Amino acid sequence: SLHTVTTMPTARQPGCPFDPPAELIDAREHGPISRFPFPDGHQGWLVTGYDLIRSILADPRFSSRKELMRHHPLVDYGDIEVPPAPPGEFLLMDEPQHGRYRKPLVGKFTVRRMRLLTERVEQVTAEHLDAMEQAGPPADLVTAFAKPIPAIIICELLGVPYEDRGSFQDNIDKFLGGEVGDEELIAAYTATQQYLAELVAAKRADPTDDLLSDLLDSDLTDEELRGIALILLSAGFDTTANMLALGTFALLQNPEQLAALRAEPALTDGAVEELLRYLSVAKQFARVALEDVELGGQTIKAGTTVILSLHTANRDPERFTDPHVLDVRRQEGGHLAFSHGIHQCLGQQLARVEMRVALPALLNRFPTLRLAVPADEVALRPEIADIYGVKSLPVTWDA
Ligand code: HEM
Repeated sequence: SLHTVTTMPTARQPGCPFDPPAELIDAREHGPISRFPFPDGHQGWLVTGYDLIRSILADPRFSSRKELMRHHPLVDYGDIEVPPAPPGEFLLMDEPQHGRYRKPLVGKFTVRRMRLLTERVEQVTAEHLDAMEQAGPPADLVTAFAKPIPAIIICELLGVPYEDRGSFQDNIDKFLGGEVGDEELIAAYTATQQYLAELVAAKRADPTDDLLSDLLDSDLTDEELRGIALILLSAGFDTTANMLALGTFALLQNPEQLAALRAEPALTDGAVEELLRYLSVAKQFARVALEDVELGGQTIKAGTTVILSLHTANRDPERFTDPHVLDVRRQEGGHLAFSHGIHQCLGQQLARVEMRVALPALLNRFPTLRLAVPADEVALRPEIADIYGVKSLPVTWDA
């Protein structure tokens, strides 16, 4: 019989900061798809099975359009009208609009281009580890390491002065951290738009050698460039940062995995993929059916919202052996941490380079790295946050 998840869980199980909430694991055990009544009364679906999620992500009958996604799994927005995504914000668009924005960017994020950045990532990482070492233990790994490294790299790539970050890094935290009310959220969004408008104007007046300046030659308007910059900055700031901090936390909690990774540098690439799978910080996304679709023995009616739990799919025992075990030697690829289909993460090669460089450098620099507080006192983001992670990670080491 069809399982119903009556409310979306708002917390994880105590002592299990890395696992999806028990209700989602339980839903998947009942089958790949469950009924899900949204708080606003909309009768939607929750998909937790790997195969089904993958096929929905590849199916053009399911839309990412913002104006159709008005049902939030945790919040009742009432009858508000949701406007379409602003120009340039292609994460929340379908084809052909999506491709028009994504196409000119793809060439900027290739494996080859991102490998060219490796040296710069190594340099920035070394500078931050030096500073940590000089300041001495303890440290907050989030502010000393996990946040600044990806932030500096995405700023340099885009041509955003890193000194300006104070004016928008906090604002981006507010969009994605799930801890501020609507009014503050709108203020943060408006301030960021204002900053980016000034930035695009500055590039028009005085182009420099960076991605935003390169895009000035295309037929994109200033408004569109602002939207693109917003998507790239917010994606580039928060996701990798959370992977680095939460990934370190997960390794510290799995000492035999940590030891294996320290002893065998050749495990690094596989360990990064395993951390992506195991943690899935971009934990869930939604799609809306554009027509009636038969799936998993159910009819998804046109206009219905489906929540896709990427994290639970990445823990599907029909796809991964011992899915709840962190195993840096795992050989099974194909995780969905970067999604799949037309919206599959544009920055994934950049994120990989950052993680492959920064994580081993940290572990090698501090062979005695450990938590400075009991594990259950590490402050985690709430489930309402779009991107999961730790708020801070107090660590120490033998100086
Ligand atoms: C899209 C995850 C890092 C830029 C996505 C999506 C996921 C994701 C799951 C697809 C959402 C959907 O299907 O609706 C991650 C994770 C990261 C990461 C886990 C870090 C480990 C980055 C970085 C950038 C970036 C560093 C910077 C350039 C983007 C963009 C999209 C995207 C532009 C939208 C793609 C589109 O709609 O075509 N990311 N991301 N991401 N990501 Fe990432």
